Amino acid sequence: MRVLVVGGGGREHALCWKISASPLCSKLFCAPGNPGIAETATCVAIGAEDLDGLVTFAKDEKIDFVVVGPAAPLVAGLVDRLTQAGIKSFGPRKAAAQLEGSKGFTKDLLAKYNIPTGAYGRFKDAESAKTFVAQKGAPIVVKADGLAAGKGVILCQTVDEANAAVDSIMTDRAFGAAGNEVVIEEFLYGEEASFFVLVDGKTALPLAAAQDHKAVGDGDTGPNTGGMGAYSPTPVVDAAMHARIMKEIVIPTVDGMAKEGTPFTGVLFVGLMIGEEGPKVIEFNARFGDPECECLMMRMKSDVLPALLATADGQLANFDVRWHDEVALTVIMAANGYPGTPEKGTVIGGLTGVDALEGVKVFHAGTKEETRGAEKVIVASGGRVLAVTATGKNVREAQARAYQAVDLIDWPGGFCRRDIGWRAVAREKN
Ligand code: AMP
Ligand code: GLY
Repeated sequence: MRVLVVGGGGREHALCWKISASPLCSKLFCAPGNPGIAETATCVAIGAEDLDGLVTFAKDEKIDFVVVGPAAPLVAGLVDRLTQAGIKSFGPRKAAAQLEGSKGFTKDLLAKYNIPTGAYGRFKDAESAKTFVAQKGAPIVVKADGLAAGKGVILCQTVDEANAAVDSIMTDRAFGAAGNEVVIEEFLYGEEASFFVLVDGKTALPLAAAQDHKAVGDGDTGPNTGGMGAYSPTPVVDAAMHARIMKEIVIPTVDGMAKEGTPFTGVLFVGLMIGEEGPKVIEFNARFGDPECECLMMRMKSDVLPALLATADGQLANFDVRWHDEVALTVIMAANGYPGTPEKGTVIGGLTGVDALEGVKVFHAGTKEETRGAEKVIVASGGRVLAVTATGKNVREAQARAYQAVDLIDWPGGFCRRDIGWRAVAREKN
């Protein structure tokens, strides 16, 4: 089977690495890919948001199956376009990708089907948004409705901050058209977790839970990022919590989407706040998390390709996925300046041989190959640059191995958090 993976980050490197190991895959392409992906797939210079280019390539190259990594092409309708062209793909259609593409759409669905989430209001103008803020008081959360690269959520401790957030999103258009509408939400307390489920339109097959570290600094300080590290499984989602999440959140969401005439197919990423009242939905994403996907692919024992195909084919009912017993943990190495303006072009050394460490795999995200003098070197070309992933018998061992690998990488132009997995490590000590 000829497979095309769309995207070029650490998530797509992990997907390509795992798909390329499948005996079902005869040829693997990745658009646009990156130098790490190039070790296992043929990279083609087509952007993940170039829908015309991707569809033409898939037709010309007789691609049998397209796996879409990022949200933007899903929300723009790539799966609809490929389906029209007769090409099978993994990911939701545009109407179902609204679960990620519109926070207002998601909140209305959750409310309609009584799925636990924070109380909220949706507003198309700044004045009525501010009236709602005045009624509810602070702390309160202000969110741009549309896709804002993970930055459209503002946690406000005071009413003044909330009013300023409304102005920034709706009046100054800090996130462009994503701010045509705002959602204002109750502030939720608890511990966050990410829960991943394959969904074929009607059946939900749970994969695993993970915990992400969104803040840039150690101890969860500083501005939010796309994710500075993750580990899976996570003790906050034990067997009882897993069962509650499936029953109270996942199944009603999958059934609700089908009833609405927009059945969801692909991977549903449930962002949860687990507090005293149980699990509540913070957000849905219509794709694998990054770096959570790196952890999941390292832990997955089964061939991933049949699982992705069964999802696309509506055949998950009797399907199962097997996992290694080990924990996987990813440390993101980011370019200095991230999440503001990351410094580009700095040379990354010491990569050779890191993968030879036991249980370690370095996935590339924002890297590029360049010629410097007579040498080919790997340089930074984005914010999040490497996803250093390791497995171990517990979080502490996986963490130790991941940082041992990080310490072999010679990259003065980058940094990482030193405490990925701290909540679980603290629990393991008790
Ligand atoms: P989102 O992009 O919706 O995942 O939001 C980004 C981050 O903001 C989440 O990971 C949470 O840490 C935080 N957050 C979002 N909504 C809420 C809420 N209602 N209460 C508390 N924190 C929130
Ligand atoms: N790691 C969070 C995300 O992929 O959105």
